[in-house]
Amino acid sequence: GTTLGASAAESGRYFGAAIAAGRLSDSVYTGILDREFNSVTAENEMKWDATEPSQNSFNYSRGDQIANRALARGQKVRGHALLWHQQQPGWAQGMSGTALRNAAINHVTKVATYYRGKVFAWDVVNEAFADGGSGGRRDSNLQRTGNDWIEAAFRAARAADPTAKLCYNDYNTDGINAKSTGVYNMVRDFRSRGVPIDCVGFQSHLTNGPPSDYQANLQRFADLGVDVQITELDIAGSSQANGFASVVRACKAIARCTGITVWGIRDSDSWRTGENPLLFDNSGNKKAAYTSTLNAL
Ligand code: XIL
Repeated sequence: GTTLGASAAESGRYFGAAIAAGRLSDSVYTGILDREFNSVTAENEMKWDATEPSQNSFNYSRGDQIANRALARGQKVRGHALLWHQQQPGWAQGMSGTALRNAAINHVTKVATYYRGKVFAWDVVNEAFADGGSGGRRDSNLQRTGNDWIEAAFRAARAADPTAKLCYNDYNTDGINAKSTGVYNMVRDFRSRGVPIDCVGFQSHLTNGPPSDYQANLQRFADLGVDVQITELDIAGSSQANGFASVVRACKAIARCTGITVWGIRDSDSWRTGENPLLFDNSGNKKAAYTSTLNAL
């Protein structure tokens, strides 16, 4: 293929980008988006603070700008993220206990119901594990409602939208380490007990490239019977072009690696200010990393 999306589609995969509603009036941006990508993720517009600014009062206007535009062009929509310790609305940040648990489950139910039939996969829970060597959960207001909050969220999401793939998504889980093993043990437990989980997202915010055991790590998750997806790929550093190719090759080597999403289009669109971690330069020109990515697909 001559574009990222078309080349990924040749092996049944998607190639997506995180996009921002506020950039959709930029024709250079939308030109690249519609030429190269066949999946989109809302960079911020489907997060809790955006979709439920006051309790049980929902605002889908910016999420819909992204979702409806994509669906009208035949692009898939990846949902991000139903529950996360960051970007919570102020009203939720101040809650705890049963009230927060009920509010969180209501959020999952309402948003997943609203986007049913539009979103092909949801990050149901984002970044719930701690960094470092503990392999355990991150402390958060959600975690303090009880260790079963993650499975409760997945059950609510399945009930609300039986058609979407339900994913757990995290960072620093790209190689085999204590954090990724903690996630692995949770997924294995969920699969053994019938808790509905279909996929694991690996954010893959990298420098130079993936760890040497990246493919082995993705494979051990796939062997649990879940799909794996690269969900927020960006790579800083001088080995960027080789790094992108390594990520693509690892995904392609795993039958259950169903797609790759880069976290932005041009370097100037990236959340990693000054690191230039994406496939297009500030003017929208293809970088060496674009070519290595396309050639690896
Ligand atoms: C980032 C967005 O890119 C920024 O625009 C926003 O200010 C903060 O969040 N992990 C995630 C994403 O799961 O939602 C984050 O996105 C990047 C890290």
